[in-house]
Amino acid sequence: MPLVTTKEMFEKSMKEGFAIGAFNINNMEIIQGIVDAAEAQKSPVILQASEGAIKYARMPYLMKMIEAATEETTIPIAIHLDHGANFEVCKKCIDAGFTSVMIDGSKYSFEENIEITKKVVEYAHERGVVVEAELGQLAGIEDDVNVSEADAKYTDPEQAKEFVEKTGCDSLAIAIGTSHGAYKFKGEAKLRVDILKEIKEKIPNTPIVLHGASSVIPELVETCNAYGGEIPGAKGVPDEILKEVSMNGVSKINVDTDLRLALTSEIRKALAENPSAFDPRKYLTPARAKIQEVVEHKIKNVFGSSNKA
Ligand code: G3H
Ligand code: 13P
Ligand code: ZN
Repeated sequence: MPLVTTKEMFEKSMKEGFAIGAFNINNMEIIQGIVDAAEAQKSPVILQASEGAIKYARMPYLMKMIEAATEETTIPIAIHLDHGANFEVCKKCIDAGFTSVMIDGSKYSFEENIEITKKVVEYAHERGVVVEAELGQLAGIEDDVNVSEADAKYTDPEQAKEFVEKTGCDSLAIAIGTSHGAYKFKGEAKLRVDILKEIKEKIPNTPIVLHGASSVIPELVETCNAYGGEIPGAKGVPDEILKEVSMNGVSKINVDTDLRLALTSEIRKALAENPSAFDPRKYLTPARAKIQEVVEHKIKNVFGSSNKA
């Protein structure tokens, strides 16, 4: 099936009350693990690449691997730029064949964010590409900007309405208490679901995106640590909360950290258990299978997108 935009995916997810997983890709094993999971669950899926991922994998390889995925499967796949920092990056991805881009103007003032987002929307829409924008700031480390947890700015529902009206963006990433990476909460994990509901009331037809939504799966952290890793005190968003927001207006849930943990924990384990092994296939095969297992779990038990392809 050819690549699709997220438009049709989100229309269905908003109508039926489920979320679509957007999983970060960096190499072949990660792409295959995600796509095999979505295929097994008959779920639509969003593959997203950050600027760092594009730099690492290189654009021609990335696009060819995605093309291969669409040839092998029948499920709808969208390819999305994660956290585009400026117009040029978005343009590069649109020109390369991405079906969706994110312009992340969250570090700018409200007015500047509107301006930069509008410019990307204009270029993207002329080419049939959809745009995700962000309003409000996540806690923790986002790209090169270090926003302390105390400074986290939740999205203002009233501003969200004005922002969407003025920019014409297709979906909106909001800040309700999540953060990127493996250390999301010091104490109890808590999201401002009340703010989400208020935003949804103001912009009922705009798909809402949740970044920093890995659950930082405790078993994966334990495996990493048991085999030489040092990831103490890692904590993510519990599945129950993600399930609640999936049913209450969040249409896209971003996951990267859990995939990193899945891959790394299996590689650590396989290498530790087979010290004489040096064939990469010996440790990348279980690592890829772990990615598939993690993604299938999220699709089936948390996001609710099984059989929605
Ligand atoms: O939100 C950021 C994603 O986890 C991508 O991270 O820029 O290190 O590829 P990255
Ligand atoms: P996590 O670090 O929680 O996986 O978030 C990923 C993300 O938001 C990518 O944009
Ligand atoms: Zn993000």
